[in-house]
Amino acid sequence: MNERDRIFVAGHRGLVGSAIVRHLRAEGFDNLLLKERDQLDLTRQEQVEQFFAAERPTHVFLAAARVGGILVNDRQPADFIRDNLQIQTHVIDAAWRNGALKLLFLGSSCIYPRLAPQPMREECLLTGPLEPTNQWYAIAKIAGLKMCQAYRRQHGFDAIAAMPNNLYGPADNFSPEGSHVVPALIRRFDEARQRGDAEVVVWGSGTPRREFLHVDDLADALIFLMRRYSDEGPVNVGWGEDISIRDLAAMIAGIVGYAGRIAFDTTRPDGTPRKLLDVSRLSALGWQPKIPLEQGLRQTWDWYQAHRETIRR
Ligand SMILES: NC(=O)c1ccc[n+]([C@@H]2O[C@H](COP(=O)([O-])OP(=O)(O)OC[C@H]3O[C@@H](n4cnc5c(N)ncnc54)[C@H](OP(=O)(O)O)[C@@H]3O)[C@@H](O)[C@H]2O)c1
Repeated sequence: MNERDRIFVAGHRGLVGSAIVRHLRAEGFDNLLLKERDQLDLTRQEQVEQFFAAERPTHVFLAAARVGGILVNDRQPADFIRDNLQIQTHVIDAAWRNGALKLLFLGSSCIYPRLAPQPMREECLLTGPLEPTNQWYAIAKIAGLKMCQAYRRQHGFDAIAAMPNNLYGPADNFSPEGSHVVPALIRRFDEARQRGDAEVVVWGSGTPRREFLHVDDLADALIFLMRRYSDEGPVNVGWGEDISIRDLAAMIAGIVGYAGRIAFDTTRPDGTPRKLLDVSRLSALGWQPKIPLEQGLRQTWDWYQAHRETIRR
């Protein structure tokens, strides 16, 4: 990847896409192809084909997807499986057809079985049943990484797949309905602090353990993989340690300055009991994350405060 290449970041306004753009620009790449959704709807095959035929990107970061927490995944299974299958199918096929040199597909740790041995190695893919709450999304992501493998085998297309764990950072989705756990807790503790609420109720038992990676670490890893990795196996990208939701909530409450009680609603679904990635494949390639959780959460809280008015809700 060099300054003359034409780099398409699909989903450039999202959490991951915007971090990739920040990192590429910081490294001096001005040759980015970025399209708003109203100019290029990736679920529309004819629009995707026209775009690729006209612009002929050489490198593609496929970070566009329909993404969300347990609530929206559970309520909108059709939207999740349809949009994700459409977006990835259109983009991967059009990239190959129009001579792209390389494509990086963003999967997710939810592709692994619900009760996979921890930490989860890339080899545990398709060895057991998925977590039911987000199975629609997971099935689409599995299809995406298999599509990358199939295009590599049949067409020699250099398509690679990265599987991050839970992400957080600037430009996250802070909406009450669509957000993941970190932005949801930041927003809820902030609102509770401002109202002076005595209690905040957190979904689930608080016992599930999750791994969180700052999106700037992820972007760094993705650019590293785009430059250095070319094989059909997916690559896990994580921090390498997990934390219980209870401890995460306490950490975020402390950072936001919420001093009230934190209660847990055990009637709400917990999701997978534990999700920690084995990151030895990526470590062996020579990449390590740099941003510890508390530091990353403080930085995300600062960003949230500075962007309160324009934030994605
Ligand atoms: N967030 C996480 O914790 C996490 C964890 C693991 C993996 N991932 C993966 O990382 C990737 C990016 O996730 P994210 O968290 O950055 O999600 P995000 O913040 O919701 O961003 C998704 C981006 O995709 C764009 N998009 C969605 N549908 C589109 C369409 N039909 N046409 C064009 N653009 C479309 C959105 O455009 P608009 O700006 O117009 O809405 C947005 O820019 C996904 O593949 C996801 O599976 C995320």
